Amino acid sequence: MKRLWRDFVSRGLSTGRWLKTCRWGLCLAAVALPLQQASAEPIVIRFSHVVGPNTPKGIGAQRFKALVEQKLPGKVRVEIYGGGSRFNDEQAILALLFGEIELAAPSFSKFRAVSNELMIFDVPFLFKDRDALKRFQAGRSGQRLLDSMLDRGLKGLAYWDNGPRVIATKRPVKAPGDLRGLTFRIEPSAVIERQYRSLRVVPITMPFSRVRDAARSGLISGQENAWSNILSKGLHEFHPHFAEVGHTFLGYMLVTSTAFWDGLPSDVRGELEKILGQVTEEVNKLALEKHTQSRSKVLESGKAQVFTPTDAQRAAWEEALAPVREAFADRIGRQLLNDAVGN
Ligand code: LMR
Repeated sequence: MKRLWRDFVSRGLSTGRWLKTCRWGLCLAAVALPLQQASAEPIVIRFSHVVGPNTPKGIGAQRFKALVEQKLPGKVRVEIYGGGSRFNDEQAILALLFGEIELAAPSFSKFRAVSNELMIFDVPFLFKDRDALKRFQAGRSGQRLLDSMLDRGLKGLAYWDNGPRVIATKRPVKAPGDLRGLTFRIEPSAVIERQYRSLRVVPITMPFSRVRDAARSGLISGQENAWSNILSKGLHEFHPHFAEVGHTFLGYMLVTSTAFWDGLPSDVRGELEKILGQVTEEVNKLALEKHTQSRSKVLESGKAQVFTPTDAQRAAWEEALAPVREAFADRIGRQLLNDAVGN
């Protein structure tokens, strides 16, 4: 077990070994949870995330803690491990299965080892705007996706938003061809990797906690993220040119382990569901506000320049990235892709 964990942390496990590990994790959690609940101690929910406290997810985690401790006093305690202080997101998914944490909210890109379907959220220009994305998530397919990893021991609880991903570079970029030769930090997503390779960018996968150092040292000459993450890490100091082409949105699935969730007393689970419903609404409203505020603050710094394409320029980006959707259509599922386009 220890060796598997070390492997995962130091170099990443192959998907096959990872899934075997997940099953180990499920067995452990199944044994550990009833023991936890047999005692009179409060149930502890350890919530891991990788962003700053002043981002939609960071604020959402604190709000969740406050509401849980107000509505379930003495019954449930929440501990937040933010800013990647304990795990990066990929490690967090494994840690859920090992019973080392109970809650995480990784971006969809971080689920690569456990879901092909969630790659849908990284497909460029699939959702025509935020409303289309939200309709898809609230609809039949989106709700089904929350339960699509039950056989892996993971249960999706909600969708949390951040905002559109903006392309940030050290030199101005207007057309897709302008990216050629740059080196980008990307999230661990096969779709995003393909997107950048097709634009002749060298993609390097690394956890969010490494991006600032990688930008400062010059290891990377660009990356993409939501405005609140760019602001919170000060990434505009190193990559001050922004292209808002509107290709994808950064969003999260709030996720727990089935062993933990199913092992909760039903009244506690019911109250947690209500709280999550409330916090989800608040986070998603806040994400819209943070998007605008963070963008303004970055611009006010005087260091940033934003390129907003005309319809014709945007069409050129869409055309350049159109093959990415087809390349992943079979793995994601054509029906699911059609559902997304139909929103
Ligand atoms: C990233 O890795 O850039 C983001 O997914 C971080 C986050 O959680 O917003």
